[in-house]
Amino acid sequence: MEKLNIGIIGLGAIGQKHCDALKEINRANIVAVADVDESVLTKTANQLNATPYADFKKLIDHPGLDAVIVAMPDHMHREACVSAAEAGKHILVEKPLATTLDDGKAIIAATEKNNVQLMVGFSLRFSLHYQKARDAVKEGKLGDLVSIFARRLNVITQSERINGRCGVLTFLGVHDFDAMRWIVGSEPVSIYSESSTSVPSPYPIENETFSIIRFENGVIGCAHIGWYLPAQHPAGRDFKLDITGNKGCLNLDQMRQGIEIYTQNGAKFPSVSTGLLDEDSTFVNCILDNKPMPATGKDGLIALKMVQAALESIKTHQPVKIESN
Ligand SMILES: NC(=O)c1ccc[n+]([C@@H]2O[C@H](COP(=O)([O-])OP(=O)(O)OC[C@H]3O[C@@H](n4cnc5c(N)ncnc54)[C@H](O)[C@@H]3O)[C@@H](O)[C@H]2O)c1
Repeated sequence: MEKLNIGIIGLGAIGQKHCDALKEINRANIVAVADVDESVLTKTANQLNATPYADFKKLIDHPGLDAVIVAMPDHMHREACVSAAEAGKHILVEKPLATTLDDGKAIIAATEKNNVQLMVGFSLRFSLHYQKARDAVKEGKLGDLVSIFARRLNVITQSERINGRCGVLTFLGVHDFDAMRWIVGSEPVSIYSESSTSVPSPYPIENETFSIIRFENGVIGCAHIGWYLPAQHPAGRDFKLDITGNKGCLNLDQMRQGIEIYTQNGAKFPSVSTGLLDEDSTFVNCILDNKPMPATGKDGLIALKMVQAALESIKTHQPVKIESN
């Protein structure tokens, strides 16, 4: 069987999940891993029997490497992606594509120039819940679409974990902005956002935001994004999606996934999602079978434009136009 030789750059929270997912994929070989944290690098390389690199540029030169997964902090995506593209490696970059439009465009330009595939890790596109919601809309089950509401609330410890290196819209909101656009099937034309600080936070960034989005086809979107849930929250998340059409509505609750465990220590709402496994196997299959990626650099750039416009709106308290081309 033809296999894809993959290197993983960044072995933190999501990098480890990519390692776990790729181990399950028959058509993938993790041949190399990179991280500046020596202890996590050595441990992960030993577990995977992969070559460790402290310098990701050396990983990119690993003999026989076909592709990389870039799972470093958001603001570092450009350097790793451009270097990988220039070396002819296909790329799965974690969301958001980048933190500035310049960086996002530079990544896309490098992949186009070097003819390599680029996928952005919009994991909601691989969630069964969100796929079913999109199918219902596409099949016209709700009639003509009127509005879409997304909520993504995480625990306060999430912002503490990433040390305030970005705000909640960049880290979490980008997921829903992309998912809304993907489900609505239309481009965003403007966004109006307000933010608040629901609970005291050590970081001078918003931890709760409300955004109203107008889409080209007339649909109104509303996104409530935050990371202020108490650390003891039994599910650690409150993710919802409500879609309204003129012939019906759809309600999605990702906190409840059909299994709930109640003990003397409290309630647990385990996640049974296999989204990342599907995301990584799609990436592998698209490269080996030469198929187009389901979440492209352009998708990443538009979601980033939505985030940037929302951040500008938070400052000006005015709606901000979004140019999608
Ligand atoms: N799809 C999702 O659901 C999801 C979830 C979490 C994070 N993310 C995204 O994944 C990326 C990583 O986030 P995270 O939460 O795993 O962060 P993290 O801080 O847990 O991990 C980042 C890792 O990158 C390493 N690193 C830093 N500089 C490096 C360098 N120069 N070379 C190699 N490694 C380096 C760090 O040592 C760390 O191990 C971010 O872009 C984030 O937005 C996506």
